[in-house]
Amino acid sequence: MRSFMIQPVIATTLLLLVIAIVAPGLAVGTSPAINATCAAIDTPTYHEYDYCVRVLSADPAAAAATDARGVATAAVNITLQKAASTLSVISYLVDELSTCRGYYSGMVKSLAGVLVDFGAGRFDRAALAKAEFASDTPDNCDILLFQGSAKKNPIAQENTDNQELANIAREITDHVVNAS
Ligand SMILES: *[C@@H]1O[C@H](CO)[C@@H](O)[C@H](O)[C@H]1NC(C)=O
Ligand SMILES: *[C@@H]1O[C@H](CO)[C@@H](O)[C@H](O)[C@H]1NC(C)=O
Repeated sequence: MRSFMIQPVIATTLLLLVIAIVAPGLAVGTSPAINATCAAIDTPTYHEYDYCVRVLSADPAAAAATDARGVATAAVNITLQKAASTLSVISYLVDELSTCRGYYSGMVKSLAGVLVDFGAGRFDRAALAKAEFASDTPDNCDILLFQGSAKKNPIAQENTDNQELANIAREITDHVVNAS
């Protein structure tokens, strides 16, 4: 009895699944203007017909274009939007990396200061404070890039490497200072 109830549900689910798989395929290549324009720029060396049709068919303005000029306008505009978006990501990234540059500049100064202290025989709390300050830097940069608007972290590996080293350096300094 129960299986009779479930069967229509399974059939409906399968039908929706088939529609979901087939429908996107039907949407591609519906515009003769896109087809003709993409065929016109396709060459045996640079075979870009498929990419051309796919990217333009996904754009409402290109799909609505009725001639090559309309398709050209849409293609340039799609590229403009993409470039503007990339420009914005780069601008955020430059700002965020500039802040990280300040962090790392401070980290280098602190570690150099620790070495000056050590060189003068000062294995003390002041030296430890500098080592501790340095060990805050990599994570601060990483968090900034993680939470930033660019949503990119091109120095994730460097942050991790620096964090691991800075932790070791701070812990050993702590050990030496407390043993003194
Ligand atoms: C566009 O080209 C594809 C493949 O080349 C073809 O299947 C499709 O029917 C064409 N569509 C139009 C509207 O010309
Ligand atoms: C370019 O695309 C944007 C965003 O889709 C749209 O607002 C604008 O009207 C388009 N410009 C042209 C010249 O097609």
